[in-house]
Amino acid sequence: MAIFIFVCWRILFSDCDLILQLAEKFGKSPASLAGKVVWITGASSGIGEFTAYELAKAGCRLVLSARRKEELERVKSQCLVSGKVKDDDVLVLPLDMLKTDTHAAAVETVLQHFSKIDILFSNAGRSHRGMFESTSLDVDREMFELTVFGNMSLIKATLPSMKERKEGHIFVMSSAAGKLGAPASSPYTGAKHALQGYCDCLRMELIQYNIDVSVVCPGPVHSNLLQYSFTEKSGEFYGKAWSKDENRMTTSRCAELIGIMMANKLGEGWISPQPILALMYFNQYLPWPFQRVFTRMGMKAVAKMRDGDAKEAKEK
Ligand SMILES: NC(=O)c1ccc[n+]([C@@H]2O[C@H](COP(=O)([O-])OP(=O)(O)OC[C@H]3O[C@@H](n4cnc5c(N)ncnc54)[C@H](OP(=O)(O)O)[C@@H]3O)[C@@H](O)[C@H]2O)c1
Repeated sequence: MAIFIFVCWRILFSDCDLILQLAEKFGKSPASLAGKVVWITGASSGIGEFTAYELAKAGCRLVLSARRKEELERVKSQCLVSGKVKDDDVLVLPLDMLKTDTHAAAVETVLQHFSKIDILFSNAGRSHRGMFESTSLDVDREMFELTVFGNMSLIKATLPSMKERKEGHIFVMSSAAGKLGAPASSPYTGAKHALQGYCDCLRMELIQYNIDVSVVCPGPVHSNLLQYSFTEKSGEFYGKAWSKDENRMTTSRCAELIGIMMANKLGEGWISPQPILALMYFNQYLPWPFQRVFTRMGMKAVAKMRDGDAKEAKEK
């Protein structure tokens, strides 16, 4: 009984899942990754940017990728100031996840610079705000091109060098929306679920090559994600930012937990403020009652819980 109460308490009053809590307390720290070559996509802002700072502090050598080169240079400068890295340890490599025909050449550039890739953190992404029915099918396709096929393309291009070395770690950014339905974000939810499925298969296929596959599922975290979200119409950005006092995890705390996941090679990690973390457990272990309760809570309440944006979600 005491153990049950302790576990419930850890689920209800923590910001990450139980295994990650244990890894934080008793496992390896990100400092154990010193010297590793880590390629981060989506490194120009948000979670990717702060993960770069966390890993630079640990002494990792970094490849920073995204489309905006000037933002990547800014992140590199900050890594040099606050981390244990020198100029040659941080490679800025502009990359568009949608231009899959450039991915093999990008891998070559990284290998020429560092001669290996220890960890690929495939993190770049965009969210979505809009209702399922009024979202254009073009938006659904664009979301899948970025979240699913962009990631799969870069992973496929990276794997041969990891297989040759019989060593590597594919670390993929999913979301709490990769585990449960997030209303007013159906293409995002669908694409992150697809990513989870790919990674679950990949983990089994790659074990024989000593390559690990991890998937991280954060709940709400402060970043620029909402601003650059897809809307119901193709070619649009949502354009609004989250307010600073919302119930979202700080970007630096999320990056810290990602560093711990990487160091301990955890297969899947849940990182979230409450009550989303508790809802993830509820959904995983009690799916039928969860669906009854969650569905009945209604669109407005759930959207509000996600980002305080219920009004816009309803009006759209
Ligand atoms: N923030 C959250 O609450 C939250 C929760 C769960 C999961 N996530 C996931 O975390 C990841 C990072 O998002 P974030 O929250 O840090 O948001 P963010 O601050 O908007 O960062 C998104 C990053 O993705 C890059 N990106 C977007 N489209 C790209 C493309 N076509 N090619 C290459 N890079 C591209 C952006 O760089 P450029 O614009 O310079 O290309 C940027 O660096 C996403 O996959 C998101 O789904 C976020």
